[in-house]
Amino acid sequence: MTTEEQNVRVAEAEHLLQVYNRIPVVFTHGDGSYLYDINGRRYLDFVSGLGVASLGHAHPGLAAALAGQARALLHTSNLYFHPLQGQVGRRLTELSGLARAFFCNSGTEAVEGCLKFARRYWYSQGNPRTRFVALERSFHGRTLGALSTTWEPSYRAPFAPPLPEVTFVSPTDPEALDEATGTDVAAIILEPIQGEGGVWPLSPEFAAAVTVACSRSGALLIADEVQCGLGRTGTPFYSDHLDLKPDLMALGKALGAGVPIGAILMSQAVADTVAPGDHGTTYGGNLLSCRAALVFLDALEHGGLERVQEAGARLEKGLRHLADRYPVITDVRGTGLMQGLDMTETVAGQVVEAALAGGLLVNRAAGHVIRMLPPFTVSDTEVDEALQTLDQVLSKLR
Ligand SMILES: Cc1ncc(COP(=O)(O)O)c(C=O)c1O
Repeated sequence: MTTEEQNVRVAEAEHLLQVYNRIPVVFTHGDGSYLYDINGRRYLDFVSGLGVASLGHAHPGLAAALAGQARALLHTSNLYFHPLQGQVGRRLTELSGLARAFFCNSGTEAVEGCLKFARRYWYSQGNPRTRFVALERSFHGRTLGALSTTWEPSYRAPFAPPLPEVTFVSPTDPEALDEATGTDVAAIILEPIQGEGGVWPLSPEFAAAVTVACSRSGALLIADEVQCGLGRTGTPFYSDHLDLKPDLMALGKALGAGVPIGAILMSQAVADTVAPGDHGTTYGGNLLSCRAALVFLDALEHGGLERVQEAGARLEKGLRHLADRYPVITDVRGTGLMQGLDMTETVAGQVVEAALAGGLLVNRAAGHVIRMLPPFTVSDTEVDEALQTLDQVLSKLR
């Protein structure tokens, strides 16, 4: 380890809350799909900051737009108008078919807002409903409301009690969903593709059961598209693919291409129940984050979705080919540029480590799934390079 690396690690060890088990590499800069560490070593980045660096790293258009915005104006708070929130709101509502947008700073805040607005909706019907139905294997974030609808018990236990009115059902059990969704349920919350839980797309049958349960009980539907949304699967939203009609949608990650921004999209019926002062944020939707979102949305509309479809199909085909050759891979799941390879936890740990040594970044979801969330701008050659590295890694495991 170089002295520079050592200094970074010592400073963190001495001064930071020790809440992350960091992988021992210090990144200093990036270029497209590649990251460079403090020693100048290059890595192909198929993690993209957990699905955030949607335009890759050091994107020239984004860098120029952000520098220009920084010279003009970064932040004014939500006390005043600025020209960009309405523009991003228009683009997102057009893309989703939902009526209105609220901006925040992260995925968990977007989920938190969705939960609040769902309760707000029922409160104004004069029939307060407080219960939520969530899914086993879900991950919705770390703030208390989002955490309460997150399945992994070890995430919730140290912060108990969570919101008491959450019922978890299996995402493969439509009958349990039906049973849990009574007329006291404010909303069903789900990820159309469960990301942190191990890259599990919901089945069309389960999605159909969600629609039936919502229409029978009146419960609202919250789609958490923080990880799978905004083009990552080759469609603007995976809810569309499943024919789901959410009343509320949580967005984050890819939207700011690296600048923190989250968004809540909602139907007019929900929006009509929210009054000025009900919710708010200091930073949410400031000029910097909205500028980033506009650059991202432009890129998505100008060839971005097509690139995800092409690169995603190439990646999936290559991964399936690897699964045919290496029995340690027990399943390949995902769509577009959200892909997972299921294996045992021990093997998955070895693969992440060996891939890193081979210059490829992938990470583990749910311990036993190698997850890939490359930038939307990834090239065919880069996809092939990742597949080749994985091939080498897997061949040495045998
Ligand atoms: C589906 C989903 N929802 C919510 C979140 C929380 O987002 P954030 O970490 O930006 O708060 C995540 C983060 O991984 C996520 O995958």
